[in-house]
Amino acid sequence: MDVRDSIAFVSGANRGIGRAFVEELLEAGAAKIYASARDAAQLADLCAAAPERIIPVALDVTKPDMIQDAAASYGDVTLLVNNAGIAGFSGLIAADDIDVARGEMETNYFGTLNMIRAFAPILASNGGGAIVNLASIASHVNFPVLGSYSASKAAVHSLTQGVRAELAAQGTLVVGVYPGPVDTDMAAGFPMEKTPPRDVVKAILDAVDAGDEDVYPDPVAVELHAGLLGDAKAVEGQVGGMLPE
Ligand SMILES: NC(=O)c1ccc[n+]([C@@H]2O[C@H](COP(=O)([O-])OP(=O)(O)OC[C@H]3O[C@@H](n4cnc5c(N)ncnc54)[C@H](OP(=O)(O)O)[C@@H]3O)[C@@H](O)[C@H]2O)c1
Repeated sequence: MDVRDSIAFVSGANRGIGRAFVEELLEAGAAKIYASARDAAQLADLCAAAPERIIPVALDVTKPDMIQDAAASYGDVTLLVNNAGIAGFSGLIAADDIDVARGEMETNYFGTLNMIRAFAPILASNGGGAIVNLASIASHVNFPVLGSYSASKAAVHSLTQGVRAELAAQGTLVVGVYPGPVDTDMAAGFPMEKTPPRDVVKAILDAVDAGDEDVYPDPVAVELHAGLLGDAKAVEGQVGGMLPE
C-alpha cells in the first residue's frame, strides 16, 4: 500500500513513536493525518507544522465511546496506526497485585482490538488500506522485568495474526511491528542500546509501502529475532536474567 496520499489515523501521537509517525507520514506525502491523543492540547505544536494536513483528535483507546465517535467522524481513513501503549515495568509475581497487568491488557490489547473493530469497515470501504500494530520483540519472548507488558504484547501479536486472516478478503494489509528498545519515555529506564523513533518509523513505513507483514525495525529486534529462529530457549534464558526488583 502506498503511504504517499494515504489518510492516516495515529493513536498516541503526542509523544514518542506516535509523534514520529506523524512527522514521518507528513514527510512521506500522506494526504491527511489524524493525530490522536488522550490530551489533544498536547498536539498543538505538532499540528501547527501543517494545520491543513494534521488534524488533532482527542482519543483514549480504553474508551469505546470515543473510538466509536472517531470512526463515525473520520470515514476517509486508509491507514490505521495502533501505536498507543503503556508499560508498567512490573513482574508477573513480583507485582503487588494484577492491576498493572490488567491495565496493560486494557490499553495494549483491548484498545487495539476495539480500534480495529471500529475502523475495519472504513478501511474496507476505502479499498482495503492497511493496519499497523505496534507489538514488541517482547511479543515473542517474555522479558521478566516487563513480564506483564510482554504478555500483553504477545496478545497483540496473536491478535495481529487473527485480524490479518479475517481481513484478507477485504484486501487490508495487516502489519505487525516488533521493535527492540526505542529511545522514548517508555524505554528511558531500560539499559540497552536504543534506536531513535524516527528511524523505527521510517522502517515501518517502508514495510507498508513494500507490503511486508512483519517488521523488525532496529538492530536489537533483528538480532533477537534471528536468535529466536535459531535457538528460542537460549534467548529465553538470556533475557530471563533481567528480573524485576
Ligand atoms: N519504546 C520502546 O522501546 C518500545 C519498544 C517496543 C514497542 N513499543 C511500543 O510502541 C508504542 C509507542 O511507545 P513509545 O515508546 O512511543 O511510548 P511512550 O513514549 O510512553 O508513548 C506512549 C504513547 O501512548 C499514549 N497512550 C497511552 N495510553 C493511552 C490511551 N489509553 N489512549 C491513548 N493513548 C494512550 C501516550 O499518551 P499520554 O501522553 O497521554 O500518556 C503516549 O502518546 C507502544 O505501543 C509501545 O508498547 C515501544
